[in-house]
Amino acid sequence: MFNHGRALSGWLPHNATDISDTDPTEENDMKKLALSALLGASLILPATLAEAKEIVIKFSHVVAENTPKGQMANKFRDLVNERLKGKVKVEVFPNAQLFGDKKVLEALLLGDVHMAAPSLSKFKKYTKKLQVFDLPFLFNDINAVDRFQKGPEGQKLLKSLESKGLIGLGYLHNGLKQLSAYKPLRVPADAAGQKFRIMSSDVLAAQFEAVKAHPVKKPFSEVFTLLGTHAIDGQENTWSNIYSKKFYEVQPYITESNHGLLDYMVVTSAEFWNGLPADIRAELEKALSEAVALGNRVALEKAKSDKQKIIDSGRSTVIQLKPEEVEQWRAVMKPVWKKFEGEIGADLIAAASAANK
Ligand code: LMR
Repeated sequence: MFNHGRALSGWLPHNATDISDTDPTEENDMKKLALSALLGASLILPATLAEAKEIVIKFSHVVAENTPKGQMANKFRDLVNERLKGKVKVEVFPNAQLFGDKKVLEALLLGDVHMAAPSLSKFKKYTKKLQVFDLPFLFNDINAVDRFQKGPEGQKLLKSLESKGLIGLGYLHNGLKQLSAYKPLRVPADAAGQKFRIMSSDVLAAQFEAVKAHPVKKPFSEVFTLLGTHAIDGQENTWSNIYSKKFYEVQPYITESNHGLLDYMVVTSAEFWNGLPADIRAELEKALSEAVALGNRVALEKAKSDKQKIIDSGRSTVIQLKPEEVEQWRAVMKPVWKKFEGEIGADLIAAASAANK
């Protein structure tokens, strides 16, 4: 390893004993001072330089570690910290420890964190296009989502934040959303008058207004308490989030509606990302794509296993809808598409819808 201490003392014209004891002139006093400054620096510099050279990447997210996003972030950290040891260190902050999703995009732009993966429903301030992912009953299953995201329109959407200083590095799945409540919800009329927590998305607000319910925009970190205190009546989320945040313990009914999508975009700031050395960036991209592949596998697995764990707990009854009941939800919610066609673009909605085939 390069020894900064030795390299610095090698630059000195004399060794310390030569100067300090034999010459009392002012010039030599100055040399003495310069020397002690350099020697002092030589003792401090090795650590300082080593630290300065290590790039620290703070990755902030809001969910538990044992979730698709939590596992993805931890895998990314482990891969990078092993492969780029001494050059890059990734630190993961789960459970909204550092920032909730409302603040995290601002924090990225300010350089307070460097990576995040908010749900696609939380980018409204930066682009209206991503609202496409919130349209109710748009995707039949996660394979359709995958086809759309990997296709040209999906890839273009990753770049839709660039004018705002953010770079979309990739998508990550969580899965399809279910409805949880204090009462059984079988048909849209059952939801009328009920207060549902939603993410900060106008499409999701319109979706609940379509069934005559009251949408309440609140951070993820507050949902459990809001449910527990009956400040809200229900919420929509994936099996993984309902299980890992224990919503099923305070909501006696969960309707398997699969009515919408909860997916993520892994984002960074353009200033941070473009300032990285190209070889480091390439390694980070490689590690991220491996981590996302793992996260997507976890998402598929948890959509089944976390649902089963909820059923096995006996705390919540899982309601399976009949096809004609699903049709009722679809019929009342689908007019939301038209309402947002102007902001999202009819072509984009058509391309997403076409991914079902
Ligand atoms: C939510 O707020 O319900 C989700 O976005 C949380 C998450 O990141 O999965």
